[in-house]
Amino acid sequence: MKRYFILLIIVLFSMQLSAQEWVVAPAEAALKSPFAFTDSTRKAGEVIYVANCKSCHGDPGKNNVIQLVPIPPDAASVKMQANTDGALHSKLIQGRGAMPSFKNTLSSTDLWRVISFMRGFNPKYVQEVAVPTIGSASAQNVSIKLNWNKTSGQVEALLTSLKENIAQPVAGAEVKLFAKRFFGNLPIDEARKSDALGKVSFNFPKDLPGDSIGNVQLVVKLTDEVAFGEASAEANLTVGVPTNRPALTDQRSMWGVLEKSPVWLIFAYVLAVLTAWGFIAYVVLQIRAIYRAGSKE
Ligand code: HEC
Repeated sequence: MKRYFILLIIVLFSMQLSAQEWVVAPAEAALKSPFAFTDSTRKAGEVIYVANCKSCHGDPGKNNVIQLVPIPPDAASVKMQANTDGALHSKLIQGRGAMPSFKNTLSSTDLWRVISFMRGFNPKYVQEVAVPTIGSASAQNVSIKLNWNKTSGQVEALLTSLKENIAQPVAGAEVKLFAKRFFGNLPIDEARKSDALGKVSFNFPKDLPGDSIGNVQLVVKLTDEVAFGEASAEANLTVGVPTNRPALTDQRSMWGVLEKSPVWLIFAYVLAVLTAWGFIAYVVLQIRAIYRAGSKE
């Protein structure tokens, strides 16, 4: 009898274990994607889903999930879709039982991409994007990275700010791009605002002269000095047309160095110097001759 009782307790206890629900803190459940879900995030998410989730969760909407206990819910199911975005994010980080944790295998951006893909199977879903972090960044902690996107032909700036040691995108900040010239900065494209990912894309002219290998020194500046102070960044990108621009000194031979002056000029100069010193030497010799002649008397 006692034995059965212990068995019963064990059975009840294990039932209790498997019935236990996921634990998602309210703050985590309220978390929102830092970027808007679009076709391109859904596409990127699909690639991640197929590689990491499909083996258990099957194709969304097809209910061809793997038979595990508990059963991995179909991504399109009411059970899955009842989660807030933040709860999905949290569960992907936590893992539970057969469901692995993706904390160390997928970046936060990739997690949001997968979520964006899964949301594509819920026609009722309306996304709430995280409130842009504009104004919360200051000059000291905004970092700007410049990059040349070859396929789009655009120059991209990525704005991030460190918040509790985590790089956060700086969204909605106005940014200007310049090319450094001999005198001052040449504005390129118009001022643009960073998107939810902190990215700004500038159209770049195809015919801007660069140095001999096409390098152009670029400067990006945040225009809102009240919020960000004088945040700016410089980078040397090979985005210009290679140009052999003559140095300023080349245009005026008088400023030039030895190899730039014509042979006749060097020759005439040397001749003039020699003539001058020769004349001085002649005068000195003549004076000496006069002294000698005087002392003989
Ligand atoms: C090895 C199999 C396996 C893989 C791979 C897997 N899961 Fe799961 N998943 C499960 C199982 C099993 C559960 C049910 C766990 C439970 O409820 O205790 C689950 C549950 C979940 C839940 C919680 C659903 C709920 O009840 O609220 C989410 C969200 C989820 N999976 C998403 C994903 C995503 C996204 C991926 C890929 C990045 C993934 N899973 C990869 C097996 C897997």
